[in-house]
Amino acid sequence: MPFGIGCALSPIADPMNTYQAALASLRQNPRTWLVTGVAGFIGSNLLECLLALGQAVVGLDNFSTGHPKNVDEALERGGVGARFRMIYGDVRDPAICREACGGVDMVLHQAALGSVPRSIDDPLSTHESNVTGMANMLVAARDANVKRFVYASSSAVYGDDTGSPKREERIGNPLSPYGATKLMDEIYAGVFNRVYGFQTIGLRYFNVFGKRQDPQGPYAAVIPRWITCLAANEPCVIMGDGETSRDFVYIEDAIQANLLAATVEVPDATGQVYNVASGEQTTLNELYQIARQKTAERVRVKPPPPVYTDFRAGDIRHSVGDISKISSRLGYSPTHTLEEGIDAALGWYLTNDRTKTPRRLNLHIPGVMAIGPHLET
Ligand SMILES: NC(=O)c1ccc[n+]([C@@H]2O[C@H](COP(=O)([O-])OP(=O)(O)OC[C@H]3O[C@@H](n4cnc5c(N)ncnc54)[C@H](O)[C@@H]3O)[C@@H](O)[C@H]2O)c1
Repeated sequence: MPFGIGCALSPIADPMNTYQAALASLRQNPRTWLVTGVAGFIGSNLLECLLALGQAVVGLDNFSTGHPKNVDEALERGGVGARFRMIYGDVRDPAICREACGGVDMVLHQAALGSVPRSIDDPLSTHESNVTGMANMLVAARDANVKRFVYASSSAVYGDDTGSPKREERIGNPLSPYGATKLMDEIYAGVFNRVYGFQTIGLRYFNVFGKRQDPQGPYAAVIPRWITCLAANEPCVIMGDGETSRDFVYIEDAIQANLLAATVEVPDATGQVYNVASGEQTTLNELYQIARQKTAERVRVKPPPPVYTDFRAGDIRHSVGDISKISSRLGYSPTHTLEEGIDAALGWYLTNDRTKTPRRLNLHIPGVMAIGPHLET
């Protein structure tokens, strides 16, 4: 095991009250947050929520997979004032990381190259952004006296472990370079916790979904991709026999996990990793039926039957997360089922076609500052 997980830890009595109390406390005592990967799916949703809570936010992104429009949309929905500063830069650059961490209380480190197949195609790029970038951020945040460093890990670290549900204390061997990078992130964060007393918390996201998750491109996630296909009456591609299973987590629950991790005051809660999951297992065949039904409730769909192809290299066969540790230690309590999450996100998936969106950040919003080169359109 990478580090101190699985030790005896005291539980929190009432999870929902814990989260409500954390939100109320943040509203009363606003902090300054750095969200890396802020133009991505999870990062832009974190930005929107933090701004709505009256927090000051620094955003960092190199727009490699993120979209300027995500930042614009988060600013429009979260309310902006002078509380947001955007840094267009790369976590592979230590100087940019140092600049981004200046004056920051909390870091929510999301920047990384996601996707198992991308990492198999190009392991070095994934390593540089995910491991070198993480190490740069840890050093910069430690040196800037950041109070807590919450970072995105992944259920991919469970690798070839066949146990179900996945529990934090038992992992297997990673099945992809991507899984290896996330495991290295956990090891580094554990070392920084032990060696420097720096407060880190790793969140092993399972399959997070929701608005602003990119439906386009070869590495798009399954839910936005399928809903886009269904709405266009194109066949969905199911890799393998469709009995591969996943744990789908709605974005609001991933946000909840981040805010709890950043604010929890329970002793020994840091230096840990936590599953961020729903605890519910869904096969791809079941997901297809749900996505098809939900899409048909909003638009006329008559898609051809799904196309079954080969299993995808590096994929874990079954993945469902045990959420007892994050529930009892951080007070996490998921609020959305898969169906409810799809209902909430569907409108966005159906009305946002990123192929028609210019890649430009709206620099006319007061309080937004761009550092570095202007973005290409
Ligand atoms: N979405 C999921 O289901 C899921 C599951 C497990 C783990 N994760 C992890 O959560 C985090 C966020 O994922 P997401 O789904 O929002 O992905 P995303 O691709 O939408 O967002 C990642 C963001 O990081 C930025 N980025 C990438 N490399 C960078 C670099 N070198 N410097 C600066 N910015 C960089 C991208 O431009 C993008 O905006 C990632 O660390 C990912 O590995 C996500």
